[in-house]
Amino acid sequence: MLSKVVIPVAGLGTRVLPASKAIPKEMLSVVDKPVIQHVVEEAVAAGFKQIILVTRSGKSAIEDHFDSHYELEAELDRKGKVSLLTSVKEILPADIEVISVRQPFAKGLGHAVLCAAAVTGGEDFAVMLPDMLIDNATTGADMQAMVERYGQSGAGQIMVEAVPEDQVERYGIVDCGGAAVEVGHGASLCGMVEKPARADAPSNLAIVGRYILPARVMDLLKDTQPGAGGEIQLTDALVQLIQEAPLEAYSMTGDIYDCGNKAGLLQANVALGLKHPETAEALKAFLARI
Ligand code: G1P
Repeated sequence: MLSKVVIPVAGLGTRVLPASKAIPKEMLSVVDKPVIQHVVEEAVAAGFKQIILVTRSGKSAIEDHFDSHYELEAELDRKGKVSLLTSVKEILPADIEVISVRQPFAKGLGHAVLCAAAVTGGEDFAVMLPDMLIDNATTGADMQAMVERYGQSGAGQIMVEAVPEDQVERYGIVDCGGAAVEVGHGASLCGMVEKPARADAPSNLAIVGRYILPARVMDLLKDTQPGAGGEIQLTDALVQLIQEAPLEAYSMTGDIYDCGNKAGLLQANVALGLKHPETAEALKAFLARI
């Protein structure tokens, strides 16, 4: 049973300052929704039922966004603004639960995931990084593909994408023993390394921030020492995991935008804005004009 997804949202958002000074970077908008809502919709479309936010002080706008807003709803109802009311009320299907836990110190992604251990309990779980927005033909298609692969093989799954070789130092890079991993397919993993120097990178396949992991990872994270950047890295715990359980890389089919930086956020707005019925025409005309 795979029903829980951990979404770490405690990051400071320094790459999108000053926009993220007083609001969480996850609340910055892509077309008509905050980035976090796009990511949660991806999780819901892939069948997850429990969204576990790993958050910190100053980020309560994220929890508020997924809560009901009585005054706003009553006002929209009174004015008969039915479609706006629906868009506010139906942010999440009724069977989805949002739970939040705190990460009191910025000690890295591995530490953030470990903060959710009391909620994931002994269950396998997914991790989705909220900066990364995946634009699939069907929402959640790549995540769904990983859920299916996990269901068939029982192996943990890590979504990857080929990146230019001069960008490998920005990511976790996987080692598939030299196997070519075609888009939409997977391969067994024999290693991975967090933010390697270009010369040390085992491939150009970068971890994009979508994982399905066995419960055992939580035990390994408890003993994981600070690694790249002085932070407790999820990648380092996964290197340990490979010694005892199979892990697979899955090469994503969708386009991905890093909304944790300014250029990625703009690109996501243009790409999704060109598809949204309310904005496509005007945006297309504007882009042609400039
Ligand atoms: C994290 C992961 C890294 C992954 C990246 C994707 O790094 O540690 O393996 O490639 O997300 O965005 P961060 O971006 O938090 O430094």
